[in-house]
Amino acid sequence: MAKLHVTTSVNGEPVEFLCEPYDTMLDALRGQLGLTGSKEGCSSGDCGACSITLDDRLVCSCLMLAAEAEGHEIRTIEGMAHGDKLHPLQQKFLEHAALQCGICTSGMLVASEALLKKNANPTEEEVRFWLAGNLCRCTGYDKIVRAVMETAAEMRGA
Ligand code: FES
Ligand code: FES
Repeated sequence: MAKLHVTTSVNGEPVEFLCEPYDTMLDALRGQLGLTGSKEGCSSGDCGACSITLDDRLVCSCLMLAAEAEGHEIRTIEGMAHGDKLHPLQQKFLEHAALQCGICTSGMLVASEALLKKNANPTEEEVRFWLAGNLCRCTGYDKIVRAVMETAAEMRGA
């Protein structure tokens, strides 16, 4: 089967790659592009470990075909920090020890950032509801939710 040529943008950089028609965006990120921050937890849209944004919309990269990235803007966990400077969410996750094995962490961070872009002042219920599609087998969620709430407050200057 002929490979497809995809031209897209990943974390603000123009990117081109070849993929099979059936490759997922997660396959392309972790394989062709060597961006292994997005994790594969389930491959069925149930765990959120592969979360990325497509034109600012939160999506599971395991449910998206790589070819669908053509002409769109992809953002991944690798684009979150600025050089050595962590994003406030990353910093707060560290301070709260809101991670253990780390498999869910990039997805949690990408999803949390997408939430704070839409809603700078979420209630705890809104944070929990938004992150309901991101599963964590380790932390029990409380530290994650607290980290997101505190980041939101800090970013608002509260
Ligand atoms: S690997 Fe995509 S949702 Fe679990
Ligand atoms: S830190 Fe292990 S799954 Fe969340």
